[in-house]
Amino acid sequence: MVDERVAIYPGSFDPLTYGHDDIIRRSLRLVDRVVVAIAGSATHVKDPTFSLAERVELTRAVYAEEPRVEVVPFEGLLVDFARQQGARLIVRGLRAVSDFEYEFQMALMNRSLWPEIEVIFMAPAASYTFLSSSLVREVARLGGDVSGFVPPLVLQELVRVFGAVVAGE
Ligand code: PNS
Repeated sequence: MVDERVAIYPGSFDPLTYGHDDIIRRSLRLVDRVVVAIAGSATHVKDPTFSLAERVELTRAVYAEEPRVEVVPFEGLLVDFARQQGARLIVRGLRAVSDFEYEFQMALMNRSLWPEIEVIFMAPAASYTFLSSSLVREVARLGGDVSGFVPPLVLQELVRVFGAVVAGE
Protein backbone atom coordinates (compact mmCIF):
# COMPACT_ATOMS: atom_id res chain seq x y z
CA MET A 1 0.00 0.00 0.00
CA VAL A 2 1.30 3.48 -0.88
CA ASP A 3 2.04 5.62 2.17
CA GLU A 4 0.80 2.91 4.47
CA ARG A 5 0.66 4.12 8.05
CA VAL A 6 2.35 1.62 10.34
CA ALA A 7 2.60 1.80 14.11
CA ILE A 8 4.90 -0.28 16.26
CA TYR A 9 3.46 -1.43 19.56
CA PRO A 10 6.44 -2.76 21.53
CA GLY A 11 6.53 -4.61 24.81
CA SER A 12 7.35 -7.80 26.65
CA PHE A 13 3.82 -9.25 26.38
CA ASP A 14 4.50 -11.88 29.04
CA PRO A 15 1.63 -12.53 28.42
CA LEU A 16 -0.70 -10.39 26.26
CA THR A 17 -3.60 -9.02 28.32
CA TYR A 18 -6.92 -7.36 27.47
CA GLY A 19 -5.17 -4.08 28.32
CA HIS A 20 -2.70 -4.64 25.45
CA ASP A 21 -5.53 -5.77 23.20
CA ASP A 22 -7.45 -2.58 23.98
CA ILE A 23 -4.46 -0.44 22.91
CA ILE A 24 -3.96 -2.52 19.72
CA ARG A 25 -7.61 -2.07 18.74
CA ARG A 26 -7.52 1.66 19.43
CA SER A 27 -4.33 1.95 17.35
CA LEU A 28 -6.03 0.21 14.43
CA ARG A 29 -8.40 3.18 14.28
CA LEU A 30 -5.43 5.49 13.64
CA VAL A 31 -3.15 3.49 11.34
CA ASP A 32 -3.38 0.91 8.57
CA ARG A 33 -1.26 -1.72 10.30
CA VAL A 34 0.02 -2.40 13.81
CA VAL A 35 3.26 -4.30 14.31
CA VAL A 36 3.24 -5.87 17.76
CA ALA A 37 6.96 -6.02 18.52
CA ILE A 38 7.79 -8.53 21.25
CA ALA A 39 11.11 -7.85 22.95
CA GLY A 40 13.54 -10.70 23.48
CA SER A 41 16.32 -9.98 25.93
CA ALA A 42 16.26 -6.16 25.70
CA THR A 43 13.55 -5.59 28.31
CA HIS A 44 13.28 -5.24 32.07
CA VAL A 45 11.56 -8.67 32.25
CA LYS A 46 14.62 -10.78 32.98
CA ASP A 47 13.05 -14.14 33.63
CA PRO A 48 9.90 -14.33 31.49
CA THR A 49 7.24 -16.96 32.19
CA PHE A 50 6.85 -17.54 28.45
CA SER A 51 9.82 -17.81 26.12
CA LEU A 52 10.09 -15.29 23.29
CA ALA A 53 8.97 -17.97 20.81
CA GLU A 54 5.95 -18.83 23.01
CA ARG A 55 4.97 -15.18 23.42
CA VAL A 56 5.16 -14.64 19.66
CA GLU A 57 3.22 -17.82 18.85
CA LEU A 58 0.52 -17.09 21.41
CA THR A 59 0.08 -13.46 20.39
CA ARG A 60 -0.02 -14.45 16.70
CA ALA A 61 -2.72 -16.99 17.48
CA VAL A 62 -4.81 -14.32 19.24
CA TYR A 63 -4.64 -12.06 16.13
CA ALA A 64 -4.89 -14.86 13.54
CA GLU A 65 -8.13 -13.34 12.19
CA GLU A 66 -6.86 -9.76 12.16
CA PRO A 67 -4.78 -9.19 8.99
CA ARG A 68 -3.83 -5.65 10.06
CA VAL A 69 -1.96 -6.93 13.12
CA GLU A 70 1.47 -8.44 12.62
CA VAL A 71 3.37 -9.99 15.52
CA VAL A 72 7.16 -10.10 15.35
CA PRO A 73 10.00 -10.71 17.80
CA PHE A 74 12.82 -8.21 18.05
CA GLU A 75 16.21 -7.93 19.70
CA GLY A 76 18.33 -4.83 20.16
CA LEU A 77 17.19 -1.24 19.97
CA LEU A 78 13.54 -0.52 19.32
CA VAL A 79 14.29 2.43 17.05
CA ASP A 80 16.51 0.25 14.83
CA PHE A 81 13.72 -2.26 14.57
CA ALA A 82 11.16 0.48 13.82
CA ARG A 83 13.39 1.81 11.04
CA GLN A 84 13.71 -1.69 9.52
CA GLN A 85 9.92 -2.02 9.59
CA GLY A 86 9.39 1.36 7.92
CA ALA A 87 7.47 2.60 10.97
CA ARG A 88 7.88 6.08 12.37
CA LEU A 89 5.30 5.76 15.08
CA ILE A 90 5.60 3.96 18.40
CA VAL A 91 2.45 3.41 20.45
CA ARG A 92 2.53 2.88 24.21
CA GLY A 93 -0.32 2.58 26.66
CA LEU A 94 -0.37 4.89 29.69
CA ARG A 95 -2.39 3.45 32.52
CA ALA A 96 -1.65 5.90 35.30
CA VAL A 97 0.64 8.72 36.32
CA SER A 98 2.99 6.08 37.72
CA ASP A 99 3.71 4.90 34.14
CA PHE A 100 4.51 8.37 32.97
CA GLU A 101 8.09 8.92 34.10
CA TYR A 102 9.43 5.67 32.62
CA GLU A 103 7.46 6.13 29.40
CA PHE A 104 8.53 9.76 29.02
CA GLN A 105 12.19 8.84 29.52
CA MET A 106 11.95 6.07 26.93
CA ALA A 107 10.15 8.32 24.45
CA LEU A 108 12.78 11.03 24.68
CA MET A 109 15.65 8.54 24.55
CA ASN A 110 14.13 6.87 21.50
CA ARG A 111 13.71 10.22 19.82
CA SER A 112 17.27 11.25 20.55
CA LEU A 113 18.43 7.93 19.02
CA TRP A 114 16.26 8.47 15.93
CA PRO A 115 14.79 11.97 15.55
CA GLU A 116 12.30 10.75 12.89
CA ILE A 117 10.39 8.64 15.39
CA GLU A 118 7.20 9.83 17.09
CA VAL A 119 5.74 8.27 20.21
CA ILE A 120 2.08 8.42 21.07
CA PHE A 121 0.61 7.42 24.40
CA MET A 122 -2.86 5.99 24.49
CA ALA A 123 -5.17 5.64 27.47
CA PRO A 124 -6.75 2.19 27.78
CA ALA A 125 -10.37 1.61 28.73
CA ALA A 126 -10.80 2.67 32.37
CA SER A 127 -11.59 -0.93 33.32
CA TYR A 128 -8.05 -1.97 32.33
CA THR A 129 -6.08 0.77 34.05
CA PHE A 130 -5.08 -1.57 36.89
CA LEU A 131 -4.06 -4.43 34.63
CA SER A 132 -0.49 -5.56 33.98
CA SER A 133 1.12 -8.77 32.74
CA SER A 134 3.06 -9.09 35.98
CA LEU A 135 -0.12 -8.93 38.10
CA VAL A 136 -1.83 -11.44 35.82
CA ARG A 137 1.14 -13.81 36.18
CA GLU A 138 1.13 -13.44 39.94
CA VAL A 139 -2.61 -13.99 40.31
CA ALA A 140 -2.50 -16.99 37.94
CA ARG A 141 0.49 -18.46 39.78
CA LEU A 142 -1.40 -18.18 43.07
CA GLY A 143 -4.46 -19.89 41.63
CA GLY A 144 -6.66 -16.81 41.11
CA ASP A 145 -9.15 -16.40 38.28
CA VAL A 146 -7.63 -14.30 35.48
CA SER A 147 -10.24 -15.16 32.85
CA GLY A 148 -11.50 -11.56 32.78
CA PHE A 149 -8.05 -10.16 32.06
CA VAL A 150 -6.65 -12.16 29.15
CA PRO A 151 -7.94 -13.59 25.85
CA PRO A 152 -9.09 -17.24 26.02
CA LEU A 153 -5.97 -18.59 24.26
CA VAL A 154 -3.73 -16.83 26.78
CA LEU A 155 -5.87 -18.16 29.61
CA GLN A 156 -5.38 -21.69 28.27
CA GLU A 157 -1.61 -21.23 28.38
CA LEU A 158 -1.72 -19.78 31.89
CA VAL A 159 -3.78 -22.76 32.99
CA ARG A 160 -1.24 -25.10 31.38
CA VAL A 161 1.69 -23.38 33.14
CA PHE A 162 0.17 -22.52 36.51
CA GLY A 163 -3.03 -24.54 36.70
CA ALA A 164 -4.95 -21.28 37.18
CA VAL A 165 -8.61 -21.35 38.20
CA VAL A 166 -10.98 -20.93 35.26
CA ALA A 167 -14.30 -19.14 35.87
CA GLY A 168 -17.20 -21.55 36.11
CA GLU A 169 -15.07 -24.66 36.61
O1 PNS B 1 6.05 -3.82 28.08
P1 PNS B 1 7.41 -3.40 28.56
O2 PNS B 1 8.14 -4.56 29.16
O3 PNS B 1 7.35 -2.23 29.48
O4 PNS B 1 8.23 -2.96 27.25
C1 PNS B 1 9.50 -2.37 27.35
C2 PNS B 1 10.15 -2.25 25.96
C3 PNS B 1 10.28 -3.61 25.32
C4 PNS B 1 9.27 -1.36 25.08
C5 PNS B 1 11.53 -1.58 26.14
O5 PNS B 1 12.26 -2.28 27.09
C6 PNS B 1 12.33 -1.51 24.84
O6 PNS B 1 12.04 -0.69 24.00
N1 PNS B 1 13.33 -2.41 24.69
C7 PNS B 1 14.15 -2.46 23.49
C8 PNS B 1 15.56 -1.97 23.78
C9 PNS B 1 15.66 -0.48 23.62
O7 PNS B 1 15.42 0.08 22.56
N2 PNS B 1 15.99 0.18 24.74
C10 PNS B 1 16.04 1.61 24.80
C11 PNS B 1 14.66 2.17 25.04
S1 PNS B 1 14.73 3.85 25.44
